[in-house]
Amino acid sequence: MTTAVAERASLGFRRVASREILTDVRGGSFDEWIGGRVANQLSTNQGADALPFQRWHRFKEAFSPELIAEAVRTSPIPVRRLADPFGGSGTSALACQFLGVEPSTIEVNPFLADLIAAKLASYRVAPLLTALGRVTRKAGASRARGAQFARMLPKTFVEPGVKDRWLFDLPVAVEIFRLRAAIEEEVDPTTVRLFRVLLGGLITGFSNAVVSGKGRRYRENWQERRVDPTCVIPTFANAVAAAIVEITACATRPVKTSTVLHGDSRALFAGLQPVDQIVCSPPYPNSFDYTDVYNMELWMLGYLTSSESNATLRRATLSSHVQISRTFDAAPRTPMLDKTMRALNKVADELWDPRIPAMVGAYFSDLQKLLQASARLLPKRGQAWFVVGDSQYANVHVKVAKILAALAPSAGLSVERIAPFRSMRVSPQQSGRHMLSEDLIVFSRR
Ligand SMILES: C[S@@+](CC[C@H](N)C(=O)[O-])C[C@H]1O[C@@H](n2cnc3c(N)ncnc32)[C@H](O)[C@@H]1O
Repeated sequence: MTTAVAERASLGFRRVASREILTDVRGGSFDEWIGGRVANQLSTNQGADALPFQRWHRFKEAFSPELIAEAVRTSPIPVRRLADPFGGSGTSALACQFLGVEPSTIEVNPFLADLIAAKLASYRVAPLLTALGRVTRKAGASRARGAQFARMLPKTFVEPGVKDRWLFDLPVAVEIFRLRAAIEEEVDPTTVRLFRVLLGGLITGFSNAVVSGKGRRYRENWQERRVDPTCVIPTFANAVAAAIVEITACATRPVKTSTVLHGDSRALFAGLQPVDQIVCSPPYPNSFDYTDVYNMELWMLGYLTSSESNATLRRATLSSHVQISRTFDAAPRTPMLDKTMRALNKVADELWDPRIPAMVGAYFSDLQKLLQASARLLPKRGQAWFVVGDSQYANVHVKVAKILAALAPSAGLSVERIAPFRSMRVSPQQSGRHMLSEDLIVFSRR
């Protein structure tokens, strides 16, 4: 074996198979799902990415399932339905199913929307196992060279890449394409979706890159530490087998229904059925576009097939970044935001992108619309829990929770409390020392 990934992947599976799965088959209640762990921070997913379903794909920015349990438990009205307009890894929706609450969620990233839907779906195990056998046999016997798949990808993806760098060695990419083709031949769309997202969870491990911070970088010595292509299909088979164990163990969770919408919550949220509670964490206005983090999965699994589809997806995301040219809505008016906008416009020449002030203004316009929609979806006294984070540009501090609190009354919501969750380091460009706060803000429908 030439390689680190083969080792990483197989070790990863051995760990899951022998230690976690066999001793860690849980059950359908919330407490069984979280395995009695004690989360010391509700806002982060510390350790939660090892939970059944959550380990299908690492999602650093998830909040903890206990946040949903706490919101439901302390709600002044009974919670039968809960919505999250920024689904991410599906923490809210999945936790809801374990808590006996019917979830609705929206996610703009098609890979993540499928990941959430795959976690929430019900399955019959025997046909899944048969399909797994069929897919791995077909992929293993395939002689396809994946030429048509490779043509759809950016040049940087597959060897020979650009300037002697590529994300996937050609033999590895060919194995992934063979698997993808075999998966897509399956007739049952629920099985196709499950297998595709489980393959998605392995994509970074098969690449020559690691994902960190705001994007990806090549692994150290990646040229010497190549991925063994013969590991691709067995690693996939192991991941599916592990997921089937989790699906089986948690099949008795009290709610099995859900609504998962793929698209832009700015357009879709107001159209949801009424709910008793909303819990979400929108992207922060820190110029970070989640599309970058999921770039490899989006392209390698065929969710993106052209630069236009990439641009369309970026435009559908919240106005929290300047990765794409688009028209930014005007900032809503409230004294604290007016002051922030004036300060940002004053330092516009010092900013690394002149569109940042407009982006920040549009961010609050987007969130104001979501607050208005929240007020329409909730009954009187129903709560909306938003986890938000501050940002800073050229020493101008964008106090997100405070600005949202000022915007709430005009949206028909009152603010019950703002609780600090943790502090985030400002970006290295800004010295990296000063801390920005992340807050939970609880709104209530008046
Ligand atoms: C902070 S993450 C949410 C994490 C989630 N709470 C969890 O625990 O996994 C924000 C998510 O919002 C999504 N997003 C960004 N813009 C969106 C939009 N306009 N509509 C729906 N989702 C959007 C991003 O793709 C990202 O997955």
